[in-house]
Amino acid sequence: MCGIVGYTGHRQAYPVILKGLKRLEYRGYDSSGVALLKDGVLNIYKKKGKVAELEESMIGKNIDAHIGIGHTRWATHGEPSDRNAHPHSSASGKLAMIHNGIIENYAQIKQELINKGYSFSSDTDTEVLLNFIEDIHKNNGSTLEEAVRIALKRVIGAYCILLIEQDNPDTIIAARKGSPLVIGIGKGEHFLASDASPIIEYTKEVVYVNDYELAIVKPDELILKNLGNEKITPYITKLDMELAAIEKGGYDHFMIKEIFEQPSTIHDCLRGRLDAKEGQIRMSGIDHNIEQLANASRIMIVACGTSWHAGLVAEYIIEELCRIPVEVEYASEFRYRNPIIHKGDVIIAISQSGETADTLVALEKAKENGAFIFGVVNAVGSSIARISHAGAYTHAGPEIGVASTKAFTGQLAVLMMMALNIAKHKGTITMDRYQTLVSELEAVPEKVSEILKGTEQIKAIAEKYKDASDFLFLGRGYNFPVALEGALKLKEISYIHAEGYPAAEMKHGPIALVDETLPVVFIATKDLYHEKVVSNMQEIKARKGKIISIVTQGDTHSPSLSNDYFAIPLADELIAPILTVIPLQLLSYYVGIAKGIDVDKPRNLAKSVTVE
Ligand code: AGP
Repeated sequence: MCGIVGYTGHRQAYPVILKGLKRLEYRGYDSSGVALLKDGVLNIYKKKGKVAELEESMIGKNIDAHIGIGHTRWATHGEPSDRNAHPHSSASGKLAMIHNGIIENYAQIKQELINKGYSFSSDTDTEVLLNFIEDIHKNNGSTLEEAVRIALKRVIGAYCILLIEQDNPDTIIAARKGSPLVIGIGKGEHFLASDASPIIEYTKEVVYVNDYELAIVKPDELILKNLGNEKITPYITKLDMELAAIEKGGYDHFMIKEIFEQPSTIHDCLRGRLDAKEGQIRMSGIDHNIEQLANASRIMIVACGTSWHAGLVAEYIIEELCRIPVEVEYASEFRYRNPIIHKGDVIIAISQSGETADTLVALEKAKENGAFIFGVVNAVGSSIARISHAGAYTHAGPEIGVASTKAFTGQLAVLMMMALNIAKHKGTITMDRYQTLVSELEAVPEKVSEILKGTEQIKAIAEKYKDASDFLFLGRGYNFPVALEGALKLKEISYIHAEGYPAAEMKHGPIALVDETLPVVFIATKDLYHEKVVSNMQEIKARKGKIISIVTQGDTHSPSLSNDYFAIPLADELIAPILTVIPLQLLSYYVGIAKGIDVDKPRNLAKSVTVE
């Protein structure tokens, strides 16, 4: 939620910030803005809409500056508008600040400031925090750094802030709690951003700032302190990411690029871990903690959205292979109810971004109660990866499209390997079955490539049904979560109402929706439940619903019941979800495109949900 960029150094700040904001636009795109400082003059420019609109509005403006901050917003307090856009300016006009997060007690602080005579020109919590800092700075005789520290001790909520001051020509003050901040170390320059994508082309040396840390950043100096004013030695990490990974590389959208990357991202996820010839899976995060994982009396999986769907697939797989009870929870529910957590319980956190606020807070809570946290995360070095006791990266590379695609298949691959390792260790799987699944998993990248060859067929189906007002997605067993995922994807990027259901549950209510206008997508691949799914198809056909089915190559019966179908290679039912989801990703992409929607940045969404 919200992307932030800062620069101080020898380059022109504006081009660095603008490029950075474009890379961070996946985090929010309601409005954007920059503050540039030169010779004691602080210029703030901001605009409702996407970063391109800011860029256009900047033509002819004074952009000469070597220090600046920029922001792309996902609105929380106050509608998307020019006046609610960041950066905000303090009452005196001497400070400018950007913020990612939510200040929960802003109303109380605002009232105190109003009582002191302050007035506000936006509806944001950010402007309140900024004036609170300025008030302390002016009236307590504190330096700006001290004022920030004092103010943040009072604040409840989440923040990553960057502040610049008119009288301080080269310094950015930054602080974080709950919202990410990375600082890139250059020669005589520093870059600050919500993630590494705005930094990568200038330097690979970065410092991930932790919660409750404050950074004083000048071109030649980076000082890190905690809120108690004690200095901390910055821990410099080398980025393992290439610029090409965050560019479109000839595709029209990141989403389709990321769908097409899946043969190689799944391969990367398996590479060095899975060896089918040797019949072995080696994953250090699992191998080093195998006793803890295998002896768990239960496993809880905590996640949101698509990652939660991966958790549901994992529930079925882990219970089947490892015979350990699994509960899957929405992180947002888990964090606020009073869940029973025992010391030694295993919590698997699944997250693409590694920054989802609900998941992060749920984990903190579980950790406090003595649970063992295992992170299945895509973004290397992210907050969830860092607070986990152990984990396994999905290695899908940066996912920029708001709709998650390659991260999901990476999550499924990691969770499958995890289940296989635990099952082997516990002896709950025969060696034959283990070997079959390892070989099946190894064959997935090739099968995904084969599915992608049928893209034009899916595109035609998408164009045929693009005007439907509702869709139903049905699947059973391992493919039930895939039905949920197919519906979520379609909603996100086509704005068509869609529901996912277990196919058999359909007759308990949703069947009332079925008429000749309703497309019903069945995941009807060959598995244990196949005949049952076919019966459900008959029930829809009898009510004149339009059936679109995902079937196994060679099956002729399911296609004969369908208005349209797409065939995928045969796979073991535990592996099938990694394949069946691909045509559904393509379907939603092409429906979104046919409807003229900006699929990489659909309305109201943000890639990284760092507010609760
Ligand atoms: C998926 O397409 C989403 N945009 C969303 O549901 C996402 O999966 C969810 O917000 C969780 O994000 P995370 O994996 O980064 O934690």
